[in-house]
Amino acid sequence: MKGIILAGGAGTRLHPVTLAVSKQLLPVYDKPMIYYPLSVLMLADIRDILIISTAEDQPLFQRLLGDGSDLGLRLTYAVQPEPKGLPEAFIIGADHIGGDSVALILGDNIFYGPGMADYLRESRRDLDGCVLFGYHVSDPERYGVGEVDERGRLVSIEEKPTEPRSNRAITGLYLFDNRAVDIAKNLVPSARGELEITDVIRPYQRSGKARVVDLGQGFAWLDTGTHDSLLDAGQYVQVLERRQGVRIACIEEIALRQGFIDPDACHRRGQALPKTGYGQYVMRIAQRAREEAAR
Ligand code: DAU
Repeated sequence: MKGIILAGGAGTRLHPVTLAVSKQLLPVYDKPMIYYPLSVLMLADIRDILIISTAEDQPLFQRLLGDGSDLGLRLTYAVQPEPKGLPEAFIIGADHIGGDSVALILGDNIFYGPGMADYLRESRRDLDGCVLFGYHVSDPERYGVGEVDERGRLVSIEEKPTEPRSNRAITGLYLFDNRAVDIAKNLVPSARGELEITDVIRPYQRSGKARVVDLGQGFAWLDTGTHDSLLDAGQYVQVLERRQGVRIACIEEIALRQGFIDPDACHRRGQALPKTGYGQYVMRIAQRAREEAAR
């Protein structure tokens, strides 16, 4: 399975903060926003990842993440000149996807919760059609909204409906088999003038091949769309990290645990950030892994 992080868009709702820098590079407490979706793909054991951004921001993403080799990843980059809709990710990324299946994640979506890796591993296995991730929200009209039958199959999906048929938001993480590429290529823009992700999903839904996995209670799907929600997300991460002494979306830790890199490579990444608690944490987990290996 290939991965795509869609990190374009104008970030207009966060102006003036995003006038000069991409939204997905803004800090969410102690790390750039894109670390969070990247860590989700890594937890899904996806190592070949395309990052799509605007032309102006591409060098910044490259400066931050490079070719990914020091994390055991293969990161490549592509430009979306204008935000013409989420399905463009499959068109721009067609060569990257090749004949494979694909996980698309929006660069501003933050997921955190127990068993995320299990959710992902299970959903990847036997992927037949598409898998979406549902989340109960109080304001479904702001999202794609799905109705689901008792077997977890998607029955209907609507983008930002004025009268939502359920409280289940469809989050910005989508697993698709290879047919998504052709479906995307044949889409026409909606009344909003954009290609809509719901129009990629609908053919799967009609043939009973769209499955929804609900992210349960105790799971956090955080919004970063406004100044307030971005600050809330940062504070959520701060509270958990301070209280539990762990780091959320620490890409070095995930790379180490997934076996993408060895403790030495992990330690080197931490050493490059010696003045920060983040860097010290990375060195500490590397050291612990060395000790465990020596036992
Ligand atoms: O966050 C989940 C929601 O994301 C889903 O529930 C909706 O079904 C889906 O349409 C999307 O809704 P948003 O209102 O959040 O979409 P937005 O246009 O804000 O784009 C989401 C992110 O993707 C944002 O960070 C910018 C980026 N993007 C968006 C578009 C349309 C791109 O990089 N390129 C694009 O063409």
